[in-house]
Amino acid sequence: MHLRFAALTASFVIGLAATAQAPTSLKDAYHADFYIGAAINTAQITGQDARGDALIAAQFDSISPENCLKWENVHPQPDKYDFTIPDQYVAFGEKHHMFIVGHNLVWHNQTPAWVFHDDKGNLLTRDALLARMRDHIHTVVGRYKGRIQTWDVVNEALNEDGTLRQSMWEKIIGDDYIAKAFEYAHEADPQAQLNYNDYNLENEPKRYGAIALITKLKSQGVPIATVGLQGHDSLDWPTLDQQDATIEAFAKLGVKVAITELDIDVLPRATRQQTADVTVNIAQNPALNPYVNGLPDAVQQQLAKRYADLFTVFLKHRDVVNRVTFWGVTDADSWRNDWPVRGRTSYPLLFDRAAQPKPAYTAVIQVATTKSSQ
Ligand code: XIL
Repeated sequence: MHLRFAALTASFVIGLAATAQAPTSLKDAYHADFYIGAAINTAQITGQDARGDALIAAQFDSISPENCLKWENVHPQPDKYDFTIPDQYVAFGEKHHMFIVGHNLVWHNQTPAWVFHDDKGNLLTRDALLARMRDHIHTVVGRYKGRIQTWDVVNEALNEDGTLRQSMWEKIIGDDYIAKAFEYAHEADPQAQLNYNDYNLENEPKRYGAIALITKLKSQGVPIATVGLQGHDSLDWPTLDQQDATIEAFAKLGVKVAITELDIDVLPRATRQQTADVTVNIAQNPALNPYVNGLPDAVQQQLAKRYADLFTVFLKHRDVVNRVTFWGVTDADSWRNDWPVRGRTSYPLLFDRAAQPKPAYTAVIQVATTKSSQ
C-alpha cells in the first residue's frame, strides 16, 4: 500500500513536470533528437572559466575543441606532441558523459609550414607526406581511441566552385589525400564516426562538389559516416530552402549530417561573399561595429526568429541530423568578435556576455517543445 502510494505520487509529480514545465536545458529539450554541442576553449577546458564550465555542463551533451587539437597546437614540432590541454579536454567530456568531438586532423590552416617540408627545407615527396600524415593521425586518434567518438578528418577541402582546393596536401599527395586520411583514421580507431567538414555547402556549386566527393569516397569504400555543415551563418544566409535541400542531399548519399560550428552573425557583412575562411582579416571601421553598447531589441528578436527557423529545419531532419554544435558558449567567447574583423562586439550565440540566456535561447527551446506537444 505504502509502495503503491509512493509510485502513484511519483508518476503524478513526473506528469506534472512534463505538462507544466518547459525543459530547463538545450540538451534536455533535444534529447530525443540530436546532441547539442559547444566548442570549448582553453579557459573552459582547464577550469579557469568556472561560470562557462557550469553552463556547458548544464546545457550541452557534446563538446568540440575550439583549437587545442589542431595540428599547430597538438603537434607543434616534428618530434613534439603536446597533449596537455587535449587530455583535459577529453577528461572534461568524460566527466560529464558527453559525446566528444575531435577537430581536426587534416586542414590547410593552423598547420605549421614544417609539415610539408623536410629538414633541408625541400618540399616532401608524396610518400613522405603520406607517412607524416599517417603518423600524426595514428598518434592523435590512437591516443583517444574509444574516447573521442567522432573526428573531423578533413576540413575545408573544397573551393567555392566545388573543385578541390589546391592545398599543400592536394598539391603534394594528389586528390586521394582525402581517402588516405579517412583510411588512416579508421585504422587508428575503427569505432570512431568519421566526418568531412566544410562551410558554404549550402551554396549549390560547392554542395555539388561535396556530393561528387562523398559519392566517390563511398564508392571506393572509404569509411565516411557524416558530413559536417559548419554553419557560420548570418541573418539572411543560408535561406531555409538552401538549408533544407543541403541536409536532404547528403542524407540521400547515405551519410548522416552534423551541424558542427553554428553561429549567426548579426553585424554588417564585412566581406563581399559569405565565407568562413579563417585567414580573412578586414580593417576595423565603426560602421562595421554598430552594437558596441548592446544589441537593439529588434535585432535580438530577429536573431531569435532566425535561430528558431533554422532549428525547425534541423528538427525536420532529426533522423539524419545527429548533432548541432554551437561554435562557442557565450557571445564573449565567440571567434566572431575577432573575425573577419578584429575587435568587434558580436552577438552570434544563445548566451550573452553575462552568460544569461538570450531570447534566441528561449526560441530554440520553444521549437523543441512545440514539436513534442504536436
Ligand atoms: C577558429 C577558432 O574559433 C579561432 O579561435 C581560431 O583563431 C581560428 O579558427 N572553421 C573551423 C574552425 O573549422 O576551426 C575555426 O575556428 C572557425 C572556422
